[in-house]
Amino acid sequence: MQVNRQDEIATLGNSFNEMADSIQQQITRLENLSRVQQRFVSDVSHELRTPLTTLRMASEIIYSSRNSFDPQVARSAELLVGNIERFERLLEDLLEVSRFDAEVAILEPADFNLVSLITRSVEDLELVAKENATKIVFTPDTQDLLITADVRRVERILRNLLNNAIDHADSKPIHIHLEYNDNDVAVAVRDHGVGIDENSLLRVFDRFWRADPSRSRVRGGTGLGLSIALEDARLHNGELEVWGRPGHGAHFVLTLPRLAGNSLESRLISLQPRDYTI
Ligand SMILES: Nc1ncnc2c1ncn2[C@@H]1O[C@H](COP(=O)(O)OP(=O)(O)OP(=O)(O)O)[C@@H](O)[C@H]1O
Ligand SMILES: [Mg+2]
Repeated sequence: MQVNRQDEIATLGNSFNEMADSIQQQITRLENLSRVQQRFVSDVSHELRTPLTTLRMASEIIYSSRNSFDPQVARSAELLVGNIERFERLLEDLLEVSRFDAEVAILEPADFNLVSLITRSVEDLELVAKENATKIVFTPDTQDLLITADVRRVERILRNLLNNAIDHADSKPIHIHLEYNDNDVAVAVRDHGVGIDENSLLRVFDRFWRADPSRSRVRGGTGLGLSIALEDARLHNGELEVWGRPGHGAHFVLTLPRLAGNSLESRLISLQPRDYTI
């Protein structure tokens, strides 16, 4: 702001300018800092890739001869393989996160049938669901629903929502609900398990956030899944929203334009699930 007077207003103007300068400096400092941090995450992740590949190959060799070891060593070989897999998944997630931060995450849209993709994801998780004494119910009213989107990303979103639902379902069935019109498509994953309280609803999409870290540790979650899912959805110009009540389960609604990059015109599934009445 230009100051060319010499009264109280001028003093105010000068203070305002000083404040603006100082805020600008702070912003620049923080921007640089976060750029350094992003760079660090990206570099470290890349550096870890090679040794980790070597570790994985070595562990596979050890694992394949586990029958000739005494039981304690054989158990260690299993733990080793399991944890290296987990490490690799975490590293992949970190690399993806640093791609989002560097704004180099690109959408690779293709035409595909969303119903087939959901069906396949459900089938792939059937066993995990069974181990957790739950099941996933998906009864679409069509077998063909063509959309143009990034298959890898949409599949990753679905898998994470389903895995999360299985983890928290408390042995109750999980329902997938699908709605569509000419412009948009919505997929909702509803579980009736432990649910999510009001404070946690604000945090579920935060990186590394887990409501109960000790519980997730058993299943190997790192708390990156939903933050990546949200960025994947937004990359399509879509939206991912959450509803939850303690003891009444959770409801995640993914809405995507049928042509990636178009704007959403409607919310086809209401966030509060239809089966929930207060
Ligand atoms: N359906 C659900 N019901 C209750 N809590 C949930 C549900 N889905 C997610 N959460 C909570 O949100 C947290 C974050 O989920 P997110 O998918 O980001 O991470 P994660 O599943 O712990 O790890 P990963 O990175 O492997 O996905 C979970 O740890 C859990 O506390
Ligand atoms: Mg998850």
